[in-house]
Amino acid sequence: MEQIEEILSKIDIVELINSYVPLKKMGRNFKALCPFHSEKTPSFVVSSELQIFKCFGCGAGGNALKFLTEYEKMTFGEALRFLADKSGVKLKSYQPTQQQQEKDKFLTINHLAAEYYHYLLSKHKVGEEARKYLAKRSISSSSIQLFKLGYSPESWDSLYKYLVAKKSYRAMDLVKAGLVAQGRGFYDRFRGRIIFPLRNHRNEVVGFSGRVLIPDLKGAKYINTPETAIYHKGSLLYGLEVTQKEIKKKNQAIIVEGEFDLISSYQAGVKNVVAVKGSALTENQIDLLKRFCENIVLCMDSDSAGDAATRRAVETSDKAGVNVRVLEIKGGKDPDEMAQKSAKEWREKVKKTTPVFDFYISSVKKRFNRETPEGKRKISEELAPILSKITNEVVKAHYIKKLASLLDVGEEAISKEMTRVFKKSFSPKTSDDKNLVPQQNKKKIELLEEALLSLVLQKLTGNREMIQTIELEYLSVGIVKKIFTRLLDFCSQTDFEVRKFSLTLPAELRETVDRLYLHDWMDLLENDREFERQFVLVKNEIKKGSLRNKISRLVEKIKLSKNKEKRDADKRKISELTKRLKDL
Ligand code: CTP
Ligand code: MN
Repeated sequence: MEQIEEILSKIDIVELINSYVPLKKMGRNFKALCPFHSEKTPSFVVSSELQIFKCFGCGAGGNALKFLTEYEKMTFGEALRFLADKSGVKLKSYQPTQQQQEKDKFLTINHLAAEYYHYLLSKHKVGEEARKYLAKRSISSSSIQLFKLGYSPESWDSLYKYLVAKKSYRAMDLVKAGLVAQGRGFYDRFRGRIIFPLRNHRNEVVGFSGRVLIPDLKGAKYINTPETAIYHKGSLLYGLEVTQKEIKKKNQAIIVEGEFDLISSYQAGVKNVVAVKGSALTENQIDLLKRFCENIVLCMDSDSAGDAATRRAVETSDKAGVNVRVLEIKGGKDPDEMAQKSAKEWREKVKKTTPVFDFYISSVKKRFNRETPEGKRKISEELAPILSKITNEVVKAHYIKKLASLLDVGEEAISKEMTRVFKKSFSPKTSDDKNLVPQQNKKKIELLEEALLSLVLQKLTGNREMIQTIELEYLSVGIVKKIFTRLLDFCSQTDFEVRKFSLTLPAELRETVDRLYLHDWMDLLENDREFERQFVLVKNEIKKGSLRNKISRLVEKIKLSKNKEKRDADKRKISELTKRLKDL
């Protein structure tokens, strides 16, 4: 526990989070679009003073360790070790779980296998043919290094022997890592193939993909590591460990299908690329990409499978709330071919991405015959629901016109069809921003008292007298009152520092303090006069509420009371309170 505190005290959460999610300084805090839910206006706040993050939209929040476990999906132990490394603290005792130990073992095995394959490709004579193959495909030796390409020889057990006999691993572990298969005996999964190590964005080798050198009708062109404890096909994006910097810089990721598409594009100077390896783009993959950029460009093969993959990917991206455009490959089969044909043209081409709607229109053109009524019907049925989702009326009109001229019908007809489809399919969706005002159903008095506490917390440093103006007797919200009581006590002993104060509180109070300290008052805090006005206003409103409450309670009491003397005393109290109320 002490070590955790020590590590956290040496880490700056702003710097840490900023390396994953670009933060903007706003007032005393830092802000960004929340990486944990999709939103259009930033409600994710990071505080240097409190060393915490907090999202006012989805409620995510916590310290640096929490951030890593949520964002990087690290286990608590992994996150702790990661920060310990970063801060130079040597962990005294940390026992990883058995599951973690197993994962670590597979990572080490994969690392050794990648080194082994890479050595054979770059140095050994069995790699000769593979080197020639890559040269023929114009893959440079620096790409071979950078992506750590390898070669698995035409043999049933060379990797198996290396890892079992030389490195003393157990055969079953190699099977579990996906490198070795078990039939009557054990045999290498990858044989006679160019090897692409599949590394996650943290540069750990989680699996492999292998392409045959000599096409053979029996085996698949590519084979991949099956799902293992560390390899999940749907969460991996090939190349991201290398290309993430460029993706961040460009705030855009170009998504291609295959390993060669990625490497050739990279060689041609278009480096903000990732490959989905021929499978459908998943939500997990988009979430991963969203950590690095806000814009994605789909650039699949030019065949009909690529077209279908693009349509599916557009839908997935739309749902995941990421901006998506399309880069259509024309005059070639895939990005690999285009980039190899001319690097310069490829660099120009990637600048010309199209909005998804243009892609849809060109897609239906390819797939349906727009001369026949049947074809026209199919096209309009497919496009009407898509175009009706466009919210900008001018943009919508533009596409209606385009579709009308494509089908050679009046725009009226298209609009009608869209209205029909829209009515049929419309069901009110739950807005992703619905949590943005979590306080909405709080009572007015609660909001006011929280506002008061928030203003005090944020303005208290260097403003000691301010705390003296708080009159505890008017507060009625338990948690706020408790915090103010402790705050008064704290300030009577030492200078106010929010993090120190926050740490003295029990968890249920601390959560409120952190949240209120991070509440965004825009520029109110910089404007002293306006601040003073608001501050007094809030205090008075609270007082009024409190006085009114007291008065109505006394009125009730008088109604029920039989004792005249007490009734008179209460009446006097009421008139005194009423006078105070009027004075406000
Ligand atoms: N793929 C796969 N398994 C297969 C076929 C394809 O995993 N049996 C993946 C590979 O990552 C491949 C991608 O899907 O790169 C796209 O497939 P395809 O277009 O058929 O291959 P290319 O990328 O064109 O491969 P190459 O240039 O090596 O022929
Ligand atoms: Mn291809």
